[in-house]
Amino acid sequence: MEPDELVARTEAYVRDAMAADASGHDWWHAARVRATATGIAAEEGADGLVVALAALLHDVADEKITGDPASGPLAARAWLESLGADQALVEHVAAIVAVVSFHGAGVPDAPTSLEGRCVRDADRLDAMGAIGIGRAFAYGGHAGRPMHDPGAAPLLAGSREAYRAHQATTINHFPEKLLLLTARMETATGRRLAEGRHAFMLEFLARFEREWAGED
Ligand code: ADP
Ligand code: NI
Repeated sequence: MEPDELVARTEAYVRDAMAADASGHDWWHAARVRATATGIAAEEGADGLVVALAALLHDVADEKITGDPASGPLAARAWLESLGADQALVEHVAAIVAVVSFHGAGVPDAPTSLEGRCVRDADRLDAMGAIGIGRAFAYGGHAGRPMHDPGAAPLLAGSREAYRAHQATTINHFPEKLLLLTARMETATGRRLAEGRHAFMLEFLARFEREWAGED
């Protein structure tokens, strides 16, 4: 199958698989990550086909939803094999899908290829800035979490298990993950894009605090 058709068929599959989600993993998340990741890839000299496919497929079977860390790479592999994609391409995309997610402040990211770094940076950029703020509150509502509790201290999780079990308030999700992402960017392009999004989150949090205290 030609690369263009592989991407078009994958896009249609992901659009359908992620159509009805309200937890921040709707189709448009995958679409934005693909656009950002392929933009980063072009600047970094990465393989655009691998990046587009991994970005599209990275959340079709999310561990947070399925409860199984193997389900994401398995779903990506099964889909690409069903299209008869080249085995090396299938393995590369599945390996990227396996290591995209964030697992806690104290849990380092597994090393990955240049293409994996482009996708990981793009996925994290979509958790930052105005869109990231919107997604965090959407996720908090979906999970039934309080928006804010001034008495709840943030948890800098030291293990995947602790991070997954933790019932964060949405405001605590900022120090627990969102404000840590800039320092974890792995491409120069990602780092540049992260700056404005990071600054906007700090501005939002400062205002949130002032309004909470009735000062603004
Ligand atoms: P990604 O799709 O970037 O890998 P996740 O799958 O971890 O991110 O989460 C999806 C979205 O929900 C992200 O924007 C993330 O920051 C947000 N999110 C995850 N956990 C929480 C939480 N405890 N509170 C608020 N938002 C969260
Ligand atoms: Ni994602």
